[in-house]
Amino acid sequence: MFSVHKLCKSFPSPQGELEVLKDVNLEVSKGDFIAIIGESGSGKSTLLQILGTLDKADSGKILLDQIEIQNLHEKDLAKLRSQHIGFIYQSHHLIPELTALENVMLPLLIQGKNKHYAGQHAEQLLKQLGLFDRAQHTPAHLSGGEAQRVAVARAVITKPKLVLADEPTGNLDETTAMTVFSMMRELCKSQNVAVLMVTHSQSFAKACDKVYALKKNTLSQLTF
Ligand SMILES: Nc1ncnc2c1ncn2[C@@H]1O[C@H](COP(=O)(O)OP(=O)(O)O)[C@@H](O)[C@H]1O
Ligand SMILES: [Mg+2]
Repeated sequence: MFSVHKLCKSFPSPQGELEVLKDVNLEVSKGDFIAIIGESGSGKSTLLQILGTLDKADSGKILLDQIEIQNLHEKDLAKLRSQHIGFIYQSHHLIPELTALENVMLPLLIQGKNKHYAGQHAEQLLKQLGLFDRAQHTPAHLSGGEAQRVAVARAVITKPKLVLADEPTGNLDETTAMTVFSMMRELCKSQNVAVLMVTHSQSFAKACDKVYALKKNTLSQLTF
């Protein structure tokens, strides 16, 4: 479904070119739940940004269902992102003025779906994530774990092919992190949404279908 071939990315730095990704290869099948681990500064966020088409690689290929996405124009990339890719970050990035329900509806409204349809789907998702009674609250009135679950709902409401999650439980205590991770996993599995999740948690990584480690600009699959 999603395949990455020989992806390379460098950044200029005072010490010369910093080679962050070198010949990175990756295959993601429909519904795969994949963990990416690696030390801070190893290039995990850079990789996710490139896969999410928010940054460009220097060379290499990214194919989404046989479509080479590296060469698309910004307008087509924006459409592709809105239809096929969901994002979850370490902090929730919810819009503070909107309720939880409205935040989750937003990606569908942006796609041009009507309010009634978007509202029903958002409500259903919030229910699945145990947040039905929090739907009318704004982010300031949600706990960290609740806000992250709303962010999960927002990322999957368009039924994307791929969700990119950059340390989605990094700001949460252990118990809350476990709840958010389990719910995210269950929801994505039930909707057949593939996930690439950056995590520092060994136990979460082990609970994923595959684990990759990014080390010295090289990505390799780990077996436990
Ligand atoms: N836009 C940028 N310009 C220059 N250097 C960058 C840029 N983005 C990231 N880097 C550098 O690339 C390396 C990898 O960063 P990052 O992908 O954020 O790592 P990680 O997410 O694994 O902590 C770091 O050394 C970082 O300083
Ligand atoms: Mg990072």
